[in-house]
Amino acid sequence: MENTDWKNMPFGYIKTDYNIRCLYSNGGWGTLEKSDSDYINIHIAATALHYGQEVFEGLKAYMGKDGRIRLFRWEDNARRFIHSAEGIIMPEFPVELFREALFEIIRLNRRFVPPYGSGATLYIRPLLYGSGPEVGVKPALEYTFIIFVTPVGPYFREGFKPVNMMICREFDRAAPLGTGTFKVGGNYAASLRAIIAAKRKGYSNSIFLDAREKKYIDECGPANFYGIKDNTYVTPRSDSILDSITNRSLIEIAQSMGMKTERRPVPVEELESFTEAGACGTAAVISPIAKIFDPVTNKIYEYSKDCIAGPITTILYKKLTGIQNGDEPDEFGWITIVD
Ligand code: PLP
Ligand code: COI
Repeated sequence: MENTDWKNMPFGYIKTDYNIRCLYSNGGWGTLEKSDSDYINIHIAATALHYGQEVFEGLKAYMGKDGRIRLFRWEDNARRFIHSAEGIIMPEFPVELFREALFEIIRLNRRFVPPYGSGATLYIRPLLYGSGPEVGVKPALEYTFIIFVTPVGPYFREGFKPVNMMICREFDRAAPLGTGTFKVGGNYAASLRAIIAAKRKGYSNSIFLDAREKKYIDECGPANFYGIKDNTYVTPRSDSILDSITNRSLIEIAQSMGMKTERRPVPVEELESFTEAGACGTAAVISPIAKIFDPVTNKIYEYSKDCIAGPITTILYKKLTGIQNGDEPDEFGWITIVD
């Protein structure tokens, strides 16, 4: 695309050439249909509108120096899409159909894949929602799958510069036996009050605590949390957070660097002992954390005084993004080339 300022792309929606849709009715999926409209026609009683029957995924396509487009661990997204759908009683979208839609949407919108080295990527958003009408609270009989793409810059506009976060105790994102492990739209609606409260106070995002005891770190807005200390990568285990594919990858990278890794409940007080901290996810990549403010104890945990990411965070970031854009060998087998 000519005249595009790829280096200053926001994380927002830009219309591309096509999206792909697929309908589920009478107990089965139909065929993939492409559309050049970014609107949908929806029944006024669709369960998605009333009862939140909606799940989504987020993954990216990366342009390499060699001009080849790479996908990162797409099967993990396909499997999590199924896990999320099952969580709110929707039919599974088969992995093979997911693969077909994913490769086709990239091929159809190839000209929107940002160039190598621009810092921008093609964000891919599959979604699935109950499109059949119901008025009682029950699962729909009809569903719609859509996949669209849009070129994006970093989610945290600071990019790889450390950001400040605020702990939220007033609002919960998800309950322990609720929908926190599913990527359902309702979790994001539930997180808005905290995010807006944090932003009003000048913080980039909010850190959620476990809803049961308010003792442990859950996650950082739309990203998982990690802390580093004593050559160890520590990240929360919780039954109300999304199992981040980026976080799983960082754990493997850290282990391959000879670090220890721990996935366990992380008490708020432990923030004191970390030398580095970060938020990680597909959209966030790694957003290093400079400071975490706890408004209840008035404590400030600091990880970066000079606005520079810590050394381990920097190595993890370089390795992860290097694998994603093809500068580093794909030693873990995470990359699929889209031809
Ligand atoms: N946590 C939440 C709530 C998210 O929305 C995301 C984004 O998908 C993540 C964590 C990070 O997950 P992943 O690394 O799979 O993108
Ligand atoms: C992602 O990282 O892909 C996400 O889904 C986060 C999104 C809610 C912005």
